[in-house]
Amino acid sequence: MRIVVLLGAPGAGKGTHAPDLATAFGLIHLSTGDLLRAEVRAGTPLGSDVAGIMGRGELVPDRIVIELLLGRLGRPDAAAGAILDGFPRTAAQAAALDGALAERGSAVEVALLIDVSPDEMVRRLTGRWICEAGGHVYNVAAGLGPRVAGRCDVDGSPLVQRADDREETVRARLAGTLPALEEVIEHYRTQGRLRTVDGLRAAPEVGAALADALRSAVGGDA
Ligand code: AP5
Repeated sequence: MRIVVLLGAPGAGKGTHAPDLATAFGLIHLSTGDLLRAEVRAGTPLGSDVAGIMGRGELVPDRIVIELLLGRLGRPDAAAGAILDGFPRTAAQAAALDGALAERGSAVEVALLIDVSPDEMVRRLTGRWICEAGGHVYNVAAGLGPRVAGRCDVDGSPLVQRADDREETVRARLAGTLPALEEVIEHYRTQGRLRTVDGLRAAPEVGAALADALRSAVGGDA
């Protein structure tokens, strides 16, 4: 099982690049944010527990996220491996992932960090639009808008803004998540698995740099 971790602060571009990387390398894309939002939309007990936490821009408790992610990783469609987007986000989550993979005789292959400044994160998140059906990501302010205003290029569904992309919530998300992210970055740096990509460039250049970094880390598969 090949596990690639995509690291970056909120707004760094994880959700923009993870689907293409996953397709190119024959992996599935697993986003804990998407998994949690699906629980909220479905009105499950877990979704009710986390809705308020997510709305305030705080981190969901480790126990809940670890169980959700490891459960999803155990499904048949993840057998070849996955790109993890938004997990691990704390040192405890990183340790839990290491432990679960070690039990399967596996390990995180590489952790790719998309490095972006805090001001740019705020600018990107407050200008982000997402398609309701497939989660495709746009940003008119950054020149990454759809061909038809308000409609997804891929499936034509309406574009909406995430509730936690209001400026005050964005600032709370950054304040609440950046210190823990630093610990996760250090975790992979210590293991020698960290590769950093400059996320301030245009999206196609960032995507190409991520693919290059991944190719060199895993030995030229795609
Ligand atoms: P989650 O959904 O993971 O949100 P996040 O980490 O806050 O990250 P985002 O999805 O906001 O940013 P992104 O890096 O994917 O950026 P994107 O590609 O969209 O988590 C949501 C919540 O769930 C958390 O707050 C927490 O409550 C909970 N949660 C999730 N995982 C958890 C965990 N492991 N533990 C605990 N709690 C957890 O890009 C942003 C915008 O920028 C887009 O509009 C895009 O078009 C644009 N853009 C992208 N690249 C560029 C570029 N190069 N130049 C210009 N614009 C660009």
